[in-house]
Amino acid sequence: MALTAGCSQTARKQAASDPFVEELLGKMTLEEKVGQMTQITLEVVSKRKDDRNVQLDAAKLREAIVKYHVGSILNCGGSANTFENWQEILTTMQDLATKETRLKIPIIYGIDSIHGANYITGATLFPQSFAMSASGNVDLVTEASVITARETRAAGIPWNFNPVLDMSRNPLWSRFWENYGEDPYLSASMAYAYVRAQQGDNMAAGDKVAACMKHYLGYSVPLTGKDRTPAWIPERMLRELFLPSFAAGAKAGVATVMVNSSEINGIPVHSYRYALDDILRGELGFEGFIVSDWEDINNLFTREKIAASQREAVKIAVLAGIDMSMVPNDYSFYTHLVDLVQKGEVPMARINEAVRGILKVKKQLGLFANAYPDKNAKKNFATAEATKANLRIAQECVTLLKNANGVLPLAKDKKVLVTGPTANLLSVLNGGWTITWQGDREDLYPAEKDTVLEAVQKLIGKDKVSYVEGTAFDKDINTAAAVEAAKQADVVIACIGEKTYCETPGNINDLTLEDAQLNLVAQLAATGKPVVLVLIEGRPRIIRPIVDKVGAILMGYLPGQEGGTAIASILFGDVNPSGKLSFTYPKYTGDFTLYDHKNSEKYDPQWSFGQGLSYTTFGYANLKLGAKTIAKGDVLAVSVDVTNTGKTAGKEIVQLYLRDMVRSVTPPTRQLKGFTKIDLKPGETRTVKLTLTAEDLSFIGRDNTRIVEPGDFEVMVANLKGSFTLK
Ligand code: BGC
Repeated sequence: MALTAGCSQTARKQAASDPFVEELLGKMTLEEKVGQMTQITLEVVSKRKDDRNVQLDAAKLREAIVKYHVGSILNCGGSANTFENWQEILTTMQDLATKETRLKIPIIYGIDSIHGANYITGATLFPQSFAMSASGNVDLVTEASVITARETRAAGIPWNFNPVLDMSRNPLWSRFWENYGEDPYLSASMAYAYVRAQQGDNMAAGDKVAACMKHYLGYSVPLTGKDRTPAWIPERMLRELFLPSFAAGAKAGVATVMVNSSEINGIPVHSYRYALDDILRGELGFEGFIVSDWEDINNLFTREKIAASQREAVKIAVLAGIDMSMVPNDYSFYTHLVDLVQKGEVPMARINEAVRGILKVKKQLGLFANAYPDKNAKKNFATAEATKANLRIAQECVTLLKNANGVLPLAKDKKVLVTGPTANLLSVLNGGWTITWQGDREDLYPAEKDTVLEAVQKLIGKDKVSYVEGTAFDKDINTAAAVEAAKQADVVIACIGEKTYCETPGNINDLTLEDAQLNLVAQLAATGKPVVLVLIEGRPRIIRPIVDKVGAILMGYLPGQEGGTAIASILFGDVNPSGKLSFTYPKYTGDFTLYDHKNSEKYDPQWSFGQGLSYTTFGYANLKLGAKTIAKGDVLAVSVDVTNTGKTAGKEIVQLYLRDMVRSVTPPTRQLKGFTKIDLKPGETRTVKLTLTAEDLSFIGRDNTRIVEPGDFEVMVANLKGSFTLK
């Protein structure tokens, strides 16, 4: 089927009808239905009281919920609010909705809990997703998701606009760090785990939320690298690379989906019925409801220019399959949609379909039974155990990229200089979606958390640590002072990278890290003292000119609130690093070749996907395949012995890559098809067992459907290779 707009041919998959929902739907007026499809932002019904609290405006709230029948509200009103403030906000809203409206339908409140409940003051804030996937540990993603759901719901919020399942395949893109990396298999594995842990078996439980996978579909590879600009993705590529993570989320039973703000192949996805209906509902079997992204229905008129008016934009989007509009600043969507239905331009059947999905999720969340925050839930919020888990998780993400002559781990009795612009800020460790959208209000970060500098001071004693502040990212950084201080130190820890950003404000024109930072490191290295580079950044900024000048390089990513402590523990050897890159780290700005490249493409990155060092060494032997020849549909067993051949205990991500030797659509030279993480003591050997299924051998054929072709395949695990034939 061609990937063209407005050509729905598959019947939309309808969820089994629920008698409670059907009865309620039967009682609703058109206005009440359209109100359920309307989502406004908290700012419309509140004002800020102070940095940590909003004050609801009773009259405006009544106007929204009672007059316009609004069914959903989102966002934080500018910055994170206290737990108590959230409970108060949700209680007041649900009071109004369930006591003072005709049908007593509760509000579904939605929030971006992207790396923990980041809009609730003091929540547990994990590494961002591109770091989580570097852990190579699905159990850690589950653990972080469980805690995120628990802390979000504890405050009374039942709906999380996460996980982000776009693919980090354009390193310029400012939302690179919100995803699980460049590989579809890795992302799909993480997606499934995250969604299952958010929702559990019963979303009505007091510690679960409805997840929202986003931004469906094809958001992440704008041709220009700039956020919310056009992407061109042929259908084969769309299905091969961009659909699998969403398919995994759908398989996990995700309750809601948010739509790509931008366009693919000239078609804004908010108008793309084939993607929203035929693929998502028809093929992936998604049964929940679809919410627009921020103002994006209106953007069909104001930005994308496919609608001649706001009213036409509403019509196009609703007919394409959008069930709820994140309007979010006014009631224009409501007014236009009521009018469109009254004039027969949007059928009531489409409205019923949308509202049915929304009510069903509200019911699954248990909101009709009890819409209120649990007054005793504070005990589940930001617990000491959650903080401990967060540290463990951050320690498994951090990735050692270079360690010449065993510079690391550092001895704790050395005199250390810590410097660079990311050395003493908490904001840079967390990135966007932290306390504020941009994550840049350093003054609002919890003082008890440690920056890299503070964590190093705590670990080895302040007396051994000198510090020269990195005063800027892109102009003089205090380089002269840092160089002077380096002369007095045994070793230099240079922390460089990026300021915090989120979405469009994070657009850049040059992937190379700013000259000022490269120059700082070059001059520090010129002192002859060993330099350990710590990278704190949301995308792989080019650092080629300094890579050979430094002794060691540690990729910290955006490691979250325990990130400073995690990095220090690895620098000084209390923890052995075990992360491996979930994306390609490019060497040149003109070379964005990724790891799953074709035979004709040369792969010459700074560091490849799947790369990461340890303080110990691992040996691989005895790669065994269960058969030399298999039939279609067989499952092939793969086993390999992994030994810790060094002197330090360590964790290792075992990765299985597959190469289809010859096929009718040019094959990638390798693709990840299995991974697991193991923990080995020195000298210990473990036999790791993985499997390859028919799905793993399949690809999107010339007719754009998924197929399996007979032929020879190569299996690669570390330096070992095996082969088999599919009959
Ligand atoms: C982002 C979404 C987010 C929404 C609500 C948009 O700008 O693209 O990821 O969920 O805002 O905050």
